[in-house]
Amino acid sequence: MPLLEVSDVSLAFGGVQALANVNFSVEKGEIFSIIGPNGAGKTTLLNCISGVYTPFGSIRVKGVDLVGMKAHARPALGVVRTFQNIALFPSESVIDNVLVGGDYWLRSGLLRSCLYWTRLGCSAEEMKARKAAMEALGVLGLGEFADALVADLPYGTQKRVELARAMMAKPNLLLLDEPTSGMTRAEKQELAEQVKILKTEHGVTVVMIEHDMGVVMKISDRIMVLDFGKKIAEGGPAEVTENPKVREAYLGKGS
Ligand SMILES: Nc1ncnc2c1ncn2[C@@H]1O[C@H](COP(=O)(O)OP(=O)(O)O)[C@@H](O)[C@H]1O
Ligand SMILES: [Mg+2]
Repeated sequence: MPLLEVSDVSLAFGGVQALANVNFSVEKGEIFSIIGPNGAGKTTLLNCISGVYTPFGSIRVKGVDLVGMKAHARPALGVVRTFQNIALFPSESVIDNVLVGGDYWLRSGLLRSCLYWTRLGCSAEEMKARKAAMEALGVLGLGEFADALVADLPYGTQKRVELARAMMAKPNLLLLDEPTSGMTRAEKQELAEQVKILKTEHGVTVVMIEHDMGVVMKISDRIMVLDFGKKIAEGGPAEVTENPKVREAYLGKGS
């Protein structure tokens, strides 16, 4: 059984058919990228998987249909996302932001009350949470920034804090919407390596929307191409690059 199985998913906004009968499945341990021109329906598709929208069709994770299930039920199923634009608390420390990612598996009331305690007064629960948060930061190479304020960090580092927060939620299936947007070339390469490590060393399956073709080609096991809400191609990096429909969608007819 695939980890994620999307069947005949359709969604319209008024007259705009944002998604039209999209079908694909993702096996455990894959990095599966979704690419396509602006307005192709990529973010809408991720929003359907993460529960922002309720589409027609079915979206099964390990056989369980998510369509119609409340968005907050997803972390318990191991489905966790990051956003196209940074969604952190800028005036809080890095570690406090990451701790929020563990909210559903920690006794959250207790954790919240502990966040404001002195370190000496920490409960066992908070110690456990902090240990997990430091581990998540370590995975993303962010250990040294644990006590820094998010607002004081460069954009590319903030994007990695978001990823650490997502890892804190112990995902099986991680949904990333343009994880390298706004990053420098060097930051993009570093992030690509880290996403690959999430897969190889932490067993995370990744579904990623990404514009940077260098990153996509380097780390994806398979790529799906959307255009005007429809899947126009799917396959390995080489196969997709050579597909004439993909060239046409990106470069226009006659090129
Ligand atoms: N909340 C919304 N209300 C109305 N139209 C929307 C909404 N979200 C997306 N759309 C439209 O759906 C289409 C797909 O958008 P989107 O999924 O954001 O594309 P992408 O992420 O591939 O750039 C676009 O035509 C967009 O204008
Ligand atoms: Mg988008």
